[in-house]
Amino acid sequence: MKIAIIGGTGTMGRALGKRLSKSHEVIIGSRDPAKARAMAATIEGAKGSDYSTAASECDVAIVAIPFSAVESQELPGAELSGKLVISVINPMKFERGLFYYGLEKGSAAEILSARLPKSRVATAFNNISPEFLTKTEVPSLDVMVAADSEEIFYEVARIVNSVPNLRPLYAGPLSEAQAVERVTPLMLNLARKNRTGNLATRFVSQRE
Ligand SMILES: NC(=O)c1ccc[n+]([C@@H]2O[C@H](COP(=O)([O-])OP(=O)(O)OC[C@H]3O[C@@H](n4cnc5c(N)ncnc54)[C@H](OP(=O)(O)O)[C@@H]3O)[C@@H](O)[C@H]2O)c1
Repeated sequence: MKIAIIGGTGTMGRALGKRLSKSHEVIIGSRDPAKARAMAATIEGAKGSDYSTAASECDVAIVAIPFSAVESQELPGAELSGKLVISVINPMKFERGLFYYGLEKGSAAEILSARLPKSRVATAFNNISPEFLTKTEVPSLDVMVAADSEEIFYEVARIVNSVPNLRPLYAGPLSEAQAVERVTPLMLNLARKNRTGNLATRFVSQRE
């Protein structure tokens, strides 16, 4: 599968690109194509290009840009028409020593979906820090996915399952994306207050 990472030069985009390049063709997308090519050169098999080319050439796009950029005109639109688009965006603010979720209602994924009405938008990978993705072996973790149908969830699940030890879990429709995104500031506060180092999500089943 050809996966474009919009914002692939960032910390999260690069980590996803590096991990997914083991089983997919990765296109690092940047506002600056030279920066994209330089980053792609550090990832075996990846190539780099501007957002529009990356979006046109891909089967699936992962959007790993800051929340502040979600509504920017620089984001591709028509090029992503009819395609699966995965948001990893967490709207967050940091005030007086604590991380807070940045929206009163809705979610970054729903805003992205409104911006890309002809794409199938899901949210996933929100609660994994890049350090886990770039380990030699990714530990056993759960990836919560919100998407408007089980069919879209299964499309995302195929990508999650392409990384050994990651388990996709369906969290419900995109209107539940806020619940998924909100876990990230909670996790960051837990890590800071309890000095645990980076945390990521894993749910324990009674069947285990
Ligand atoms: N870092 C994490 O631990 C983590 C974990 C899970 C989810 N996330 C989410 O992933 C997203 C990216 O986080 P990050 O930590 O990777 O951020 P980052 O290192 O700052 O990278 C973001 C990338 O977005 C691109 N971008 C596009 N429009 C931009 C704008 N207006 N201003 C700044 N950058 C812009 C930039 O690429 P170009 O300049 O090359 O275009 C930049 O490299 C965020 O929404 C975050 O909530 C992050």
